[in-house]
Amino acid sequence: MTTATTSSSEPRHRGGLGLPILLHGADYCPEQWLDRPDILEEDLQLMAEARMTSVTVGNFAWSALEPSEGKFTFEWLDRLMDRMHAAGIRVILSTPSGARPPWLARRYPEVLRTGPDRRRNLYGGRHNHCLTSPVYRRKTAEINRRLAERYAAHPALVLWHLSNEYGGECHCELCQEAFRAWLRARYPGGLDDLNRAWWTGFWSHTYTDWRQIESPAPHGESTFPSLSLDWRRFVTDQTAAFMLSEIAPLRAAAPRVPVTTNLMGAFSGLDYSRLAPHVDVVSWDSYPAWHAREEAGTGFISDAAGRDWVVAAATGFTHDLMRGLKGGAPFLLMESTPSVTNWHPVRRLKRPGMHVVSSLQAVAHGSDSVQYFQWRRGLGGFERFHGSVVDHRGGARGRTFEEVAEVGRILDALPFAAGAAVPAETAILFDWESWWAIRDASLGPERGDTSYLGTCMRHHRPFWAMGVPTDVIGPGADLARYRLVVMPFLALLRAGLADQLDRFVREGGTLVVTRGSAVLDEHARCFLEGAPGPLAGMLGLQVEETDELYPGTTNRLAVRAGGLPGLREEYGISGRCDLLRVEGAEVLGVYGSDFYAGTPAFTVRALGRGRAFYFAAGFDDSFLADFARVLSRQLGLHQALEADLPEGVSAQARTAGQEELVFLLNFATAPRTVDCGSGRKDAVDGGPAEGAVTLPGFGWKVLSRALSR
Ligand code: GAL
Ligand code: ZN
Repeated sequence: MTTATTSSSEPRHRGGLGLPILLHGADYCPEQWLDRPDILEEDLQLMAEARMTSVTVGNFAWSALEPSEGKFTFEWLDRLMDRMHAAGIRVILSTPSGARPPWLARRYPEVLRTGPDRRRNLYGGRHNHCLTSPVYRRKTAEINRRLAERYAAHPALVLWHLSNEYGGECHCELCQEAFRAWLRARYPGGLDDLNRAWWTGFWSHTYTDWRQIESPAPHGESTFPSLSLDWRRFVTDQTAAFMLSEIAPLRAAAPRVPVTTNLMGAFSGLDYSRLAPHVDVVSWDSYPAWHAREEAGTGFISDAAGRDWVVAAATGFTHDLMRGLKGGAPFLLMESTPSVTNWHPVRRLKRPGMHVVSSLQAVAHGSDSVQYFQWRRGLGGFERFHGSVVDHRGGARGRTFEEVAEVGRILDALPFAAGAAVPAETAILFDWESWWAIRDASLGPERGDTSYLGTCMRHHRPFWAMGVPTDVIGPGADLARYRLVVMPFLALLRAGLADQLDRFVREGGTLVVTRGSAVLDEHARCFLEGAPGPLAGMLGLQVEETDELYPGTTNRLAVRAGGLPGLREEYGISGRCDLLRVEGAEVLGVYGSDFYAGTPAFTVRALGRGRAFYFAAGFDDSFLADFARVLSRQLGLHQALEADLPEGVSAQARTAGQEELVFLLNFATAPRTVDCGSGRKDAVDGGPAEGAVTLPGFGWKVLSRALSR
């Protein structure tokens, strides 16, 4: 490091793995190559050349570890662990529950998953297991215990990796029974409570016996919002319970080894905020559709116009979301592709430079690793054409391999980043339960699965574009450390949140609430007092009616002079428009047209030492950008660089003690020039990095400086 001002007494690690380096690793499947010792030999040589410092092993290796019931074959793994240790490579060891051997499914059919149509799956694929089956829990706990007892003290082992991408649900009779038991615990007052919470008077749904309750089904109940919401909550809790049954034997035999599971970013199936407390470190698998030209079916992580910086902004949001799951502690990038992703509809190669800049983006947002799926392509199986560090030609060291090695070189030069914090004073409030509730709300076009996520990403993007570090947090998070909290479209208001927000504002916080928030209570019922429910007092307004604009048509926001200096006079409005009755809020802008022209659309209410804004409609991107700029100036929000960033360039900061790293990443294909100010050095290649610095297309720079006390 060129700036060495951190005193050693200062804590450098805020959670995370606590290793002194950034890991550079990959999923490694030696069990597929046991008859090719020459290949395993070559792997070691190539790992050294690619500057790998970790491997994730055992993810789908159950058959190789227990080829028949009760017969265990750990010898290959023993040798592997020893060889990795000798080579200085750390091992992340997976539990194998993500896929099972055929003998297990054959002998115990109950372990297989049953679909919403109540049909039990045949053996096949992966993730195809029941979350409740006592047999499956026993079998997984047993093999986990053996792994833990055998390797607890192995010096190569740094982390347990639970299963693979927990997800999906099972509708078998065991799961139905578990759901009913879960409901009984949730509604201790009995069926009367449940009937009231679910509003079952509607369509004559009043339950008189717990056995009448079934999980949602395409040929049964599929439109009852409160049932669907509780089912999703149950699926999360049942997944957590399964996960805990996997963790118990690991912690018992290897208490010093931390535990993670690879999450999938903005995945709607599970409320990750309820899984995260059970693991020691969060990790996730990131597969953005770089260079995609159309909506590639991978959620919002692709851009219709093929602008990579839009994909980068969405990916930045997702990194921030994953970091937020553990209160801002560093996380791990567990998987990413070194080149192509075989399941994307169009398998674009990462253009030269993209691999390095996208890998550094993860670190910039708080990852303590860059890891890949996969080290080496197998010759068969579903993923034989997926990107890998080493391709079928084995030893051939191509472009991908060189870029991977370059990432290794950069990570080597940045040990300081390991454990360093992201200094965020701004937060976006994100809640899986609102996501679910909106999807089930029968609200019209906005009901689309992704609109909640898209709205949250849209509100995050201006801060990303300005280089303002931003946390994405759940509703249980401690708000006191933020100066600004943005709450887009938080349809479902959990009990207690209104009081927490009120306190945050009174104590000096700035809160932004957008339309569609607080329309439902925790059971997905509307409020008798209408929207925004218990937030009405704090916001000083009431929603009287809601209009919806046809796609492609707009209204206008006319900003009142003198209200909030720094805004233009007019902006576009699309989507849904709340018609407000203002009771105590100050009106900052009004609708420009339609029968409600001149009525309030944009308000603020001062309360205690803070204030709460309300956006009554979908304001356009230029408004969001201007508003974010005005607020960050007013509040003096920390920015990674004090400069205006050109379009496509991201600046993110990580700090530890009195040192700060700034990651400057150009996601545009053309060169961009950034003013780096003074007092900064090039953290990777040494030498000063001051004044105007030009980054080539997909270029990057990591800057360091000592923070003044
Ligand atoms: C991940 C999964 C890996 C591999 C990869 C391919 O979702 O965890 O096992 O399938 O996708 O992109
Ligand atoms: Zn089941």
